[in-house]
Amino acid sequence: MVCLGNICRSPLADGLLRDKINTLKLNVIVDSAGTSGHHIGESPDNRMTAKALEYKHDISNLRSRQFSAIDFENFDLIYAMDKSNYQNIIALARSSSDIDKVKMILDESHPGEKMEVPDPYYGGEQGFENVYRLIDKATDCIIKKLK
Ligand code: 4NP
Repeated sequence: MVCLGNICRSPLADGLLRDKINTLKLNVIVDSAGTSGHHIGESPDNRMTAKALEYKHDISNLRSRQFSAIDFENFDLIYAMDKSNYQNIIALARSSSDIDKVKMILDESHPGEKMEVPDPYYGGEQGFENVYRLIDKATDCIIKKLK
């Protein structure tokens, strides 16, 4: 799961997918990263952690790290939250098989609509609720495919 800072959207996507995978006892490794290195080592944004907790998901243990080309070797699927993240990930791809791994997360829940998970960082509480709902739905769709 990849966003810009790895402190709002992608930690939530990581935490929700991880919890759903654990509940179903599926054997899948989930991780997240940011395309920028601005928040390396930081916990998720308090507003995102609070929103996740409201829905009984604990993402407080996650720490921001930067996406790197090695992630193409370690993961089969790479989900970008928005088009800018997508372009930044693709810029690090070394082959067409790397590129094929990169998906827009909301294509899972809203195929053909070219939707993005909006960056909630500079907005209000409603932005975090909106991000939660979008990512909850998208991770449900990913889980259905994985099963
Ligand atoms: P994220 O949100 O990409 O969902 O983690 C952001 C976090 C920090 C910044 C921008 C977006 N920032 O500009 O510091």
